[in-house]
Amino acid sequence: MSLLTLSGSASAYLQLEEKYGAHNYHPLPVVLEKGEGVFLWDVDGKRYYDFLSGYSAVNQGHCHPRIVRALIEQAQKLTLTSRAFHNNLLGEYAQFITAYFGYDKVLPMNTGVEGGETAIKLARRWAYTRKGVAENHAKIIFAEGNFWGRTLAAISSSTDPSSYKGFGPYMPGFEIIPYNDTIALEKALQDKNVAAFMVEPIQGEAGVVVPDDGYLQKVRELCSHYNVLFIADEIQTGLARTGKMLACDHENVRPDILILGKALSGGMLPVSAVLADDEVMLNIQPGEHGSTYGGNPLACAVAMEALRVLKDEQMAENAAVMGELMRSELAKLSSPYIHTIRGKGLLNAIVIDHANADAAWELCLALKEKGLLAKPTHGDKIRFAPPLLINREQILECVDIIGESLASSLAQ
Ligand SMILES: Cc1ncc(COP(=O)(O)O)c(C=O)c1O
Repeated sequence: MSLLTLSGSASAYLQLEEKYGAHNYHPLPVVLEKGEGVFLWDVDGKRYYDFLSGYSAVNQGHCHPRIVRALIEQAQKLTLTSRAFHNNLLGEYAQFITAYFGYDKVLPMNTGVEGGETAIKLARRWAYTRKGVAENHAKIIFAEGNFWGRTLAAISSSTDPSSYKGFGPYMPGFEIIPYNDTIALEKALQDKNVAAFMVEPIQGEAGVVVPDDGYLQKVRELCSHYNVLFIADEIQTGLARTGKMLACDHENVRPDILILGKALSGGMLPVSAVLADDEVMLNIQPGEHGSTYGGNPLACAVAMEALRVLKDEQMAENAAVMGELMRSELAKLSSPYIHTIRGKGLLNAIVIDHANADAAWELCLALKEKGLLAKPTHGDKIRFAPPLLINREQILECVDIIGESLASSLAQ
């Protein structure tokens, strides 16, 4: 789409970003300035349904008033002490989040990828101190198609060339097996040097790839059997997104290390958390890991309120019901251009089937014109993941918009 279809003020914003910002993203040509609940508004006042939710960081809805209030009240008191000193909220937050998810301890970080790095450090240290792996020999197993961020460790475990190509050399000690393949997992776990298997319960960035029923249970069973830590990356799937508080809850499995991020702050600031029991967590001593902002009082106050809102507003329950409705209404469209509809709760994707390789992007532009924002991933997949407070009428309206956009943009 040419910039000519944008208003003068919108194209001025785009030009500023283009000229002064690094070109490391390819956003849809829309400039947003306001959000509330399931809606976003652009600089010209046009309203959109948000079907991305900041990659699931805004599960509670944009600018949730309770979370905003917690943010403002705490920001007026104390925002950062660093961990050189204690603050009056870290202990309360640690007690709250460990009780909420049922673990002995939490290690607070900021971004999701830092949570992943932290989990891997914990697993390596556990392997050396508890499992008896010789120093520098620990291995971490990942699944093909994983995405857990952009640091050098994260891209070292990636199978996506646009993530890793041209950024080597890579982190040693990582091994990759196919996703949703417990036979390959069992083979890999037989190596005595394996410390952990780190996996997303549903692969989000890969295009909402849902494994077979029973996969997570089998992962749990194999990890226990071979004395390997099961690390669940629930940064995108967790916090009510898939219709349960955690995606692992669908199979009643408890990972040894749980990584949370994104919606842990309801989209207000980067807050991530790594949860584990003492046997794993207490192998790290003072000075061996941390972050200036990790566990800051502003993040603690916001995260507690963001977690309370999820339960008080029954967002997991709503995500389960609205997700079913969305998938069944999308199926009723019977569009020849939708190859697959998949997902759990409100983490969904469609796979586009069209001769034009840019069809998913074209569809997203058409959706934008009709007031719905979504983004393709890996070319032909489009994620449909609205904030979790979306209601029935809104889902029906959005599926109408999707049906009209499919017809207007992809009909040959
Ligand atoms: C499953 C998963 N893990 C980790 C990350 C990284 O989170 P962040 O971008 O906050 O570093 C993402 C981001 O999309 C993700 O989807």
